[in-house]
Amino acid sequence: MNPFDALESNVRYYCRRWPAVFASASGSVITDENGEEYIDFFAGAGALSYGHNNPLFVEVAVEHLRAGRLMHSLDTFTPEKRAFLETIERTILGPRQLDMVVQTVGPTGATAVEAALQLAQRLSGQRAVVGFEGGYHGMSYRAASVSASMAGRETSAHLKDFVALPFVEHVTDADLELLERTLRSTVNGQGIGAVIIEPTQGEGGARPFDPAFLTALRRITRELGILVIADEIQAGVGRTGPFFSFEGSQLDPDIICVSKSISGLGLPMAINLVRRDLDTWNPGEFTGTFRGNNLAFATSTVMMNHYWSDATLEKNTEQLATTVRDALATMAEQHGAGRFSVRGNGLLCGLAVGDTELAADISRHAFERRLIVETCGPGDTVVKLLTPLVIDPALLDEGLRRLALAVEQATAAR
Ligand SMILES: Cc1ncc(COP(=O)(O)O)c(C=O)c1O
Repeated sequence: MNPFDALESNVRYYCRRWPAVFASASGSVITDENGEEYIDFFAGAGALSYGHNNPLFVEVAVEHLRAGRLMHSLDTFTPEKRAFLETIERTILGPRQLDMVVQTVGPTGATAVEAALQLAQRLSGQRAVVGFEGGYHGMSYRAASVSASMAGRETSAHLKDFVALPFVEHVTDADLELLERTLRSTVNGQGIGAVIIEPTQGEGGARPFDPAFLTALRRITRELGILVIADEIQAGVGRTGPFFSFEGSQLDPDIICVSKSISGLGLPMAINLVRRDLDTWNPGEFTGTFRGNNLAFATSTVMMNHYWSDATLEKNTEQLATTVRDALATMAEQHGAGRFSVRGNGLLCGLAVGDTELAADISRHAFERRLIVETCGPGDTVVKLLTPLVIDPALLDEGLRRLALAVEQATAAR
């Protein structure tokens, strides 16, 4: 028996879908130990929006290691953290008029969500949280409790003071009436302290909320004194085009959770952006050994300086997204007339095929063609495309060609 089967927990997942031993990677291509090359439309579940081993970040990381800079620094001061803070203010917060401070948390998205919920509870004095069907916020106890779509949710215990509202694609008066009624209500005797929302859902099926709903959500929560937490862990850092996926609406969140691609290089890193006047933490009140990954500060600074000092990347993402959506629309028309639909926002895209087995078959046939693509959404019925934002257009076309063949093969077999 190979060591993976013999020694690794049964919980392993992606390796079952893509049973290769991946040995190296560059840009949008991963190479296995036999030298087979795979086009990557998965991008580390959104953690590699800037490609594998982007030379810009590798150079700074290697220099960091060679020069004996700090690797582990908790939340002490370092030159890397100083540069990171100055750069996020100059390139991201300042231009968007976001008067926010940076809270470094442990390295996972779930930790950022934990911290956001804890701060919201302490600020509002209310424990109940409203989220949305299809929302996914991580696997820690509290993050999983506010995730309405989570594998294994049935088998784990959950905080009871949570309520999930339906996803809103095109807002109606009835949606707003339900929202307001829910926000004015209590859950298990607890008032609502916060709303947590992925402005564009990732695991829930690559689907953006109607920006008009996000704007209305902000208006109503502001009237009622309820905090808004935007989970930008998957859709943020440029995935949908702008740096944050809520841009274009008036959501104006109180807390923004950011992780996955924020280091650029794919290093573990998570932060919360907290409205300055809400930053009421006591020193050391929320801790964690691995908060403030100093190497990730260095690579993240290069990422923001290089990609977010002007609008080039954002425009490029819009162009690539048009290519992807057009290709998916053709696949939907040719192989799923009336049954398939195209989803997405920027380069967080999906082909909704309405059938779990079919979506899995498409992913499997894609892998046989050396294309890595995953599934998501209700019952895993959506084929999700998370191509690197920096993918070469010719490689994107080749990946889409392979995907179209996989869709054809999977549908023909039915
Ligand atoms: C929107 C969103 N929030 C939170 C998380 C949890 O992040 P992590 O897996 O790093 O804990 C994820 C992970 O996929 C996510 O997509």
